[in-house]
Amino acid sequence: GTTFQPGDVLDLSVDQMEALLKATSTGEGSKVLDNALFAHAESVSDRFFGKDVYYRGIVEFSNVCENDCGYCGIRKHQRRARRYTMPREEVVEVAEWAFKHRMGTLMLQSGELNTPQRMAYLEDVVKSVKERTIALDLEERAENPEARRPADATGLGLCVALSVGELPREQFAQLRAAGADRYLLRIESSNPELYASIHPPAQKWENRVRCLRDLKDLGFMIGTGVMVGLPGQTLRDLAGDVMFFRDLGADMIGMGPYITEAGTPVADMWEAEFGHLDKKKHMMDMLTLTTRMNALARVTLGNVNIAATTALQAIDAVGREVALRRGANVLMPILTPTKYREHYTLYEGKPCITDTAEECQKCLNARLSMVDKRLKPGVWGDPPSYRDRL
Ligand code: 5AD
Repeated sequence: GTTFQPGDVLDLSVDQMEALLKATSTGEGSKVLDNALFAHAESVSDRFFGKDVYYRGIVEFSNVCENDCGYCGIRKHQRRARRYTMPREEVVEVAEWAFKHRMGTLMLQSGELNTPQRMAYLEDVVKSVKERTIALDLEERAENPEARRPADATGLGLCVALSVGELPREQFAQLRAAGADRYLLRIESSNPELYASIHPPAQKWENRVRCLRDLKDLGFMIGTGVMVGLPGQTLRDLAGDVMFFRDLGADMIGMGPYITEAGTPVADMWEAEFGHLDKKKHMMDMLTLTTRMNALARVTLGNVNIAATTALQAIDAVGREVALRRGANVLMPILTPTKYREHYTLYEGKPCITDTAEECQKCLNARLSMVDKRLKPGVWGDPPSYRDRL
């Protein structure tokens, strides 16, 4: 009954969100409603970001992991994985490359490891990346008074985002003190029972929520997200996920389709539930459902950053581009040196594993123009939600 204008942020209840997901994705679904949802999401993105897309160069610096998430290709008990940790200097070199190529944010991602050595590594790398890219920035500004970086660049040098898993609060505080600006930790599912079904008993949903609250409290811009298409997951769960993002006050959202990885327990659960289906068609449906979730997050949360995630591209060559037309405004070019990429396989068919950073950047630039978006270079691309709560 209520009417709304393009760009309006909608205050939907969890029942309304569930109903919307049902109407668009059950049976033949409603194409008309789907298109209305996607068009409205694009209008809200346009209101807050215009055609701008932000890049976060991601460096997958280690696949060593002490946890055992049931879906993940680098879980501790995944025997196939050859373990590596990049030398610190190599990470800093990639950071300099990212800065010179005008990426505002560097995302450092790895498996989970809570040891003093890893903490020392992280603090050192964060500090070095900050120091070196701030120095580069100052040099550049001194050489060229008409600074080639836009005036709305948020800070000097690179923004540093971490995605290194659950840690005690004191360690988050140390990483913040070392200079980290943002932290990405997916809740994976907002439903504690579903979460429990895909993690070992030692990995508690409550601790993950505790981490997200601590991170926010410590002043990090926080990102979270879920996997879409998990065995046992309902549309009600997905509607609840969007409410979770809102209640948490997340500034960034990253959602991707769940993709099976052979030799993991969740792949067996998936096989039992979906094995009888046409896999290709089912995965395309999950891609669409993921973009519907991005759209729903955009229309209800408004001014947050939403990533068009790599896993979308594992299902379809243009999965990420489609997502950029349905609420997403962030792309994460992989900058991990090529020789490590094949060892950071979270799931089957992870794309770009034979590419170089240059290739990934060029490729994404070309892809952006296909969907009438443009890179906003040289800015951190802070989520507006961090300063302006709607
Ligand atoms: N399929 C899709 N996404 C996965 N991730 C881990 N394993 C898989 C998988 N099999 C995602 C998780 C994690 C992020 C780093 O990668 O959501 O938070």
